[in-house]
Amino acid sequence: MSTVVAIDGPAGAGKSTVARALAARMGYVYVNTGMLYRAIAYAAGAAGIDLESVPADFLNRLQLEPENDGVRLNGRRLEEELRTPECSQGASVVSKQPEVRAALLPIQRRAAERGWIVMEGRDIGTVVFPDAAAKFFITATVEERARRRLAQLGNRAGQLTLDAVKAEIEERDLRDSTRKIAPLKPAPGAIVVDTTGLTIEQVVERLAGELARA
Ligand code: DC
Repeated sequence: MSTVVAIDGPAGAGKSTVARALAARMGYVYVNTGMLYRAIAYAAGAAGIDLESVPADFLNRLQLEPENDGVRLNGRRLEEELRTPECSQGASVVSKQPEVRAALLPIQRRAAERGWIVMEGRDIGTVVFPDAAAKFFITATVEERARRRLAQLGNRAGQLTLDAVKAEIEERDLRDSTRKIAPLKPAPGAIVVDTTGLTIEQVVERLAGELARA
């Protein structure tokens, strides 16, 4: 039996917050797969590699392991470094490449060997674990997602306006949902949860209720 709860959805829908809280409530391990794509963008950027075509031999030399909210890259723990707008867009760009997705597939699948996990991303229910025990697609209006992102950035938002954040999210959503391989979309059988106007607690409650019924 699968030991995976899959949570997919667009940027800024609150997946990480909800997935983390759900994992804590259930006593499951939390795995954030976006961090793997961000780590590749980060490493490639640091090496001066074009993010549109990351060579396979470069990917093969990277040692990547997801670790809760962050990732271990060649033995070094990364988290905050990967949360920059550059890494967000960079991750979305590298994630279009078949070589990148192929390299990350076994790493993500191995994570289920740790027992029950809540794994979040864009293609967890569609590609990584199509046989997941439960699949959720978490979404919200783009306005709400932009508002949340700005609030989350707090002081770090600087001169960033709501419109700029909205444009960044829309650009990323478009790229993530129109790419050829593993595009962002609800998996067959996924429970779609629109979190617009809901609190984190309400969303976690809803998901935990669905898990109890699954
Ligand atoms: O969840 P996130 O914002 O950290 O993800 C960053 C980018 O990585 C996202 O724009 C698309 C890509 N990604 C993906 O293609 N597949 C996943 N399972 C997770 C993330």
